[in-house]
Amino acid sequence: MNLKIGVIKGDGIGPEIVTEAMKILDKTADKYGHTIEYTKLLMGGASIDVHGVPLTDETVDAAKSCDAVLMGSIGGDAKTSPWYKLEPSKRPEAGLLKIRKELNLFANLRPAVLYDELRGACPLKEEITEGGFDMMIMRELTGGLYFGERKTVEENGVLTAYDSLTYNENEIRRIAKRGFAIAMKRRKKVTSVDKANVLDSSRLWRKVVEEVAAEYPEVTLEHMLVDNCAMQLVKNPKQFDVILTENMFGDILSDEASMVTGSIGMLASASLNETKFGLYEPSGGSAPDIAGQGIANPIATILSAAMMLRYSFDLDKEAEAVEAAVAKVLADGYRTGDIMSEGKEKVGTVEMGDLIAAYI
Ligand code: IPM
Ligand code: MG
Repeated sequence: MNLKIGVIKGDGIGPEIVTEAMKILDKTADKYGHTIEYTKLLMGGASIDVHGVPLTDETVDAAKSCDAVLMGSIGGDAKTSPWYKLEPSKRPEAGLLKIRKELNLFANLRPAVLYDELRGACPLKEEITEGGFDMMIMRELTGGLYFGERKTVEENGVLTAYDSLTYNENEIRRIAKRGFAIAMKRRKKVTSVDKANVLDSSRLWRKVVEEVAAEYPEVTLEHMLVDNCAMQLVKNPKQFDVILTENMFGDILSDEASMVTGSIGMLASASLNETKFGLYEPSGGSAPDIAGQGIANPIATILSAAMMLRYSFDLDKEAEAVEAAVAKVLADGYRTGDIMSEGKEKVGTVEMGDLIAAYI
């Protein structure tokens, strides 16, 4: 199979971690008889430096012509980077929001798994993590507060800012259907997270999710308020299988879920539309404070590449090979700094990539 993959290395640690993920993809392709055609794409600060904008229409078209896109991370230090002197719509993050919207990537999958080997890096008490946990956060990605109308105006001499949270029933239905379909392949439980005790958008969310649930009688549905969910994630993470939620809640809860797995450097993600196309990126940021030092954890990006093999190319066997190689390297005791614990061997970004590649 020939895989046409767009590559956005991005900013900060992006280039370092994407290089390692490409190493793993190349090794996997080699081993299983595939070829890869990479198309380099510029987004975020790297695009601002060249084109003055975080994402050009040409880059969007080039991304559309690929089967899938692998991405590192975008953005810089908001205090010191010149990118943040630009108006908000020209900053690195705007490129990310634009590509999500332009490619209609409404379904964001963020799996949070506690590897047995990483227990030591998990900040929760052992009795809570006993037996591990494995959840899939399904975050709606092209609606809600992120894409609603916003403005800052002066009203009677007082600066006032507006951000609107809008969802229509179709937007809710399509992500709910994805969530239930994924639950069917897992432990058949969906926790739909909202703030229905306050928000109209959440009440509509709940109604539509219940309609969709009726089409999946084998799946158990429960509703949970977002504040309670934030608490339950650290109190009893084992209870979750699929967490289905809107854009902003998903942003916040997925960072929290990543931390209980030990590090955000472990959390992969896939952003999908109605087709097989997907954008695959680690859930963590560009970590400008450690960029260029060769110490960033490439595992989230490597696991994102595995998700690409599975969801965009239907190469399940290859995806499993990558995931098994990651588990093996962790079992062997190798750790980047963010997941380091006593008695383990600390390695850098490139060495971690090499070790994983060797196990494919
Ligand atoms: C994420 C990030 C982005 C988001 C930022 C960089 C705009 O935090 O992918 O979770 O909020 O969606
Ligand atoms: Mg986030």
